[in-house]
Amino acid sequence: MDNAFTVPRIGVCYYPEHWPEANWANDAKAMVDMGIRVVRIGEFAWSRLEATPGEFTFEWLQRAMDTLHNAGLSIVLGTPTATPPRWMLDKYPDLLAIDENGQPRGFGSRRHYCFSHLPYRDECRRIVTELALAFGHHPGVVGWQTDNEYGCHDTIPSYSSAALLGFQQWCEQQYETISKLNEAWGNVFWSMEYNDFDQIGFPVAAVTETNPAHRLAFWRFSSDQVVAFNRVQTEVLRQHCPQHDLIHNYMGNFVQFDHHAVAKDLDVASWDNYPLGFLTRDGFSEATQAKYLRTGHPDSSGFHHDLYRGCNQGRWWLMEQQPGPVNWAPYNPAPLDGMVRFWGWEAIAHGAEVVSYFRWRQCPFAQEQMHTGLCRPDGSMDVGGQEVTQLGKELQAMLSTSDAADLLAQRQAPVALVFDYTGLEAQRIQQPDGRTFDPLRYAQQVYGACRSLGVDVDILPKDANLTDYAVVLVTTNTLDDPEFCTQLDACRGHVVLMPRVGSKTQNNAIPANLPPGQLQALIPIKVVRSESLPHFIELSIDSNGNTMSAVHWRDTIESSLEPIGQFSDGSGFHYRQGRVHYLNACLSESSLETWLSTLFTEIGVIWVQLPDGVRTRTTTGGVWAFNFNSDTVAMPETVMDALGVGSDAKPLLGSLPLQPAAVALWSHSA
Ligand code: GAL
Repeated sequence: MDNAFTVPRIGVCYYPEHWPEANWANDAKAMVDMGIRVVRIGEFAWSRLEATPGEFTFEWLQRAMDTLHNAGLSIVLGTPTATPPRWMLDKYPDLLAIDENGQPRGFGSRRHYCFSHLPYRDECRRIVTELALAFGHHPGVVGWQTDNEYGCHDTIPSYSSAALLGFQQWCEQQYETISKLNEAWGNVFWSMEYNDFDQIGFPVAAVTETNPAHRLAFWRFSSDQVVAFNRVQTEVLRQHCPQHDLIHNYMGNFVQFDHHAVAKDLDVASWDNYPLGFLTRDGFSEATQAKYLRTGHPDSSGFHHDLYRGCNQGRWWLMEQQPGPVNWAPYNPAPLDGMVRFWGWEAIAHGAEVVSYFRWRQCPFAQEQMHTGLCRPDGSMDVGGQEVTQLGKELQAMLSTSDAADLLAQRQAPVALVFDYTGLEAQRIQQPDGRTFDPLRYAQQVYGACRSLGVDVDILPKDANLTDYAVVLVTTNTLDDPEFCTQLDACRGHVVLMPRVGSKTQNNAIPANLPPGQLQALIPIKVVRSESLPHFIELSIDSNGNTMSAVHWRDTIESSLEPIGQFSDGSGFHYRQGRVHYLNACLSESSLETWLSTLFTEIGVIWVQLPDGVRTRTTTGGVWAFNFNSDTVAMPETVMDALGVGSDAKPLLGSLPLQPAAVALWSHSA
């Protein structure tokens, strides 16, 4: 990734259609006073843009955009396709997505359409074309957001008749003949062979587990439908507004389609960050939830910032940032004072071009009335608004210094973590380990181990340039892939293959030469047996004097190589040939840190054990520290030294010790 620097801006999500027109000018002025420069609008407004079929009522949007633009705001216009209006259902009763149990996902909220419904795609093309013609030359517009959060509310797979036909045609395109498909999927097993493509159904509602090949194919098909749906819009926008950035807002902890494939049609990746919602919703232990209840897990935002930074060659925005308590998680605590500002700086330190808060003003009606905004429903400023005001002032102050570009410019991290959506899904489909193992969480733990050692990570697609990283970590690339082997072979740094990498063919079966398939060309090992373990079991490992523990998964290896470590039952752990490593078990979180720090020491990647709950980030000329704890934390001199900050260096932001929710920044002395 290049050393990129784009002047970061603060943004907000605004819904002019929710408020009297008389408020708009005041709202726009108050936004600018708060330091906001970008506003996203329009993404759910279809019923106000086309109240009845073919009758467009864009005048109000024109006036809203003029008001925002005249106040000095840049506009991102959302296409309204996540919310087909009620009349659309009269036209196409079958546009509704169908759930796994055959129930239509009815009208009355949002995202009720099926990605495979082709007439709905035409409707989307039509409204996006009208909007592009009307607003493509509006002087305030800088970009477009396509739809809103593909997949939110579990909406990627649909089991509709349109999806069934689409899936059967997709299978025919992929496999050409039904006998090739039967062969590829191994349908002879349990007499699952088909005579024709039109007999293929969805991989659900069978007596027991359906074929993993069938499931992966349906996942791929569903992912391709998202790409095709999005492309309908980007083609229109490219044609009419080639000067604008095309953006989609992805989600956190969501991997139900290949985001890298969607990214190829966009200019900027963006995502929606709700750290406290994710903490209480996404399966963290009670102890972790208690510790980070008001700050969010220390690796949650960072992981996604780095993941999405890797989607469009470094260009990314934070489109929606939590402003206070939200409404949709199992519990919705208030952030610790300072966190709304903190999350903004954290995103900027990871290279966000825009940090946009959701939403300007808490809406007193409908589903999200308990979701805070930067302002309360009566328009008075909420805590979030006060903190954004502070962030705006601090950002302006920084940008007025000559160091700003250096402090904010991103540099290539020492470590690359390769992320593969399809491979991750292949692991999820067949995980004979009591379902307590989540490959996404494991990738996040591998990432978190680096970050708690003060080592930055770039999260990259498998076709990215990996050659110059000191370490390339691979954990989600389950599928045996010759091109990826070539990529890894070209790496000049250390390549660390983790369990299950290369363990399945493209059709989700075991490779003929056993795992890790063609990666055996890089390291002479064969996985001859794998076992999965309940979550309460830890296997002890002794490796060069380090005691570590393995959890969830262990492979037995046949190899001409001597293992470096040993399990207590005598079997081997960690096989290595030159710079290529195979770790044949998943490591516990603390053991990941032990193992990685040993490698970092050997190869000269600077690391230091950070205080618990503190994360750092190094930019071209700056070292940032973020305290996710609710109490004050000291940064020992050894830590500061390792980070390249002299003990007498004056912070440019914050101070030591790190207060709760503190952000600190120093110039890099190295
Ligand atoms: C996001 C969504 C927004 C809003 C927000 C509430 O998932 O994109 O429209 O619903 O959550 O936190």
